[in-house]
Amino acid sequence: MKKLEVIGPKKLKGTIKISGSKNSSLPILAATLLSKNKVKISNLPEVKDIETMILLLRSLGSNIKFNTKTKSLEINNKKNLKTFASYNLVKTMRAGILVLGPLLARFNKAKVSLPGGCAIGARPVDIHLKALSKLGVTYKITQGYIYAKAPKGLNGNIIKFPKISVGATENLIIAACLAKGKTILKNCAIEPEINDLVNFLRKMGCNIRWTGKRTAMIMGVKNLKELNYKVMFDRIEAGTYMIASALTEGDIKITNIQPKIIKTEIDILKKVGAIIKTKKNELRILGIRKNKNIKLITSPYPGFPTDLQAQLMVLLCKANGRSEITEKIFENRFMHASELNRMGAKIKILGNRSIIEGNVDFKGAELMATDLRASVSLILAALTAKGKSIINRIYHLDRGYENIEKKLRKVGARIKRIS
Ligand code: EPZ
Repeated sequence: MKKLEVIGPKKLKGTIKISGSKNSSLPILAATLLSKNKVKISNLPEVKDIETMILLLRSLGSNIKFNTKTKSLEINNKKNLKTFASYNLVKTMRAGILVLGPLLARFNKAKVSLPGGCAIGARPVDIHLKALSKLGVTYKITQGYIYAKAPKGLNGNIIKFPKISVGATENLIIAACLAKGKTILKNCAIEPEINDLVNFLRKMGCNIRWTGKRTAMIMGVKNLKELNYKVMFDRIEAGTYMIASALTEGDIKITNIQPKIIKTEIDILKKVGAIIKTKKNELRILGIRKNKNIKLITSPYPGFPTDLQAQLMVLLCKANGRSEITEKIFENRFMHASELNRMGAKIKILGNRSIIEGNVDFKGAELMATDLRASVSLILAALTAKGKSIINRIYHLDRGYENIEKKLRKVGARIKRIS
């Protein structure tokens, strides 16, 4: 079982280039199922979840070639595809549920495994299913599978999501692209990754317009086009390395980004005390000794992202005073707190609130990762801890961070993979 060994403390200095977004690549890859034409996608991050999505598409019959020269994928879904997404692929990568919408839109039927929960929560898909039934889909759930069909095809409708859901918004936008007539989706999630998906679909020939802050109007189309598309940068990876610099009193230049998309994260890190200078496609972030404590609530975009909550918690352990983070998106996303406490942190969990004492001096320890973002928060703590830390179960990490040791070693971290 692979582990990571990190020796701290170390001030990080240098440049980190941000990879393509995992959470933009996954819905875009699923959306290629809509089209019989060739699709080229570049800037995909080389992470486990993307590999799994490619395996899933190939299991449906997708013809996928990787062009090593241009580091881009060429996908061809012209032939009739299978409409069965198996448990063994969907269970390790919950975003597999995103093939449901496109398969129903194109083939009017699909058998897709329920994703099942994960460490951070039950992760239900009821909002996806109820919204799809508004487009004419009927479904039953037996033995862990969703058997869905649309005998009369998909027909446009007006749908208001009961709760903001990134995945449900993505599934419905994709499905509505081939539905007959007009679909209006209200109370949509508006994460940048959804905007990236909409840009991809428009370039493919779909007819999608934002008619309100969280309202999308989609007119079904019949013909789609070939296209070349470059996936946006990974804003959560960018935020993670920004926090690494703030935490270690470092001086890191983060390149290959669009600072305006991460304005909330930049503002919060400035409030905590980091010095940040932005340019068109990069920023420079310097950490200071005494960070300020803050109170924060995670919320859907443009609020502070739940996917950076664990990482920010580590920084607030170094603040000058008590902080508080309330997790409003997932019901069990504080599992990193107990591991951080084993390194000397003083974090108390009260339901969905965490109370974080400041002025902590982390000590290295043997640690266990539980989910993707919790794993990276343990690395952040280890970078600033005195001594050696060993982080176990790093397969969680490999799902969403491309070449993390290489990127961190390049800015001076003492980190290596050991068996
Ligand atoms: C996406 O997950 C991201 N994953 C998550 O990132 C991210 O944390 C999350 O959005 C919130 O921003 C991908 O994009 C692949 P939701 P998703 O539907 O779509 C509840 C990471 O670390 N809900 O917005 O699954 C749900 O339980 C991952 O990269 C229902 O109740 O998130 C949660 O409490 C982790 N019923 C809340 O809504 C549903 O049908 C938000 O979930 C769907 C969701």
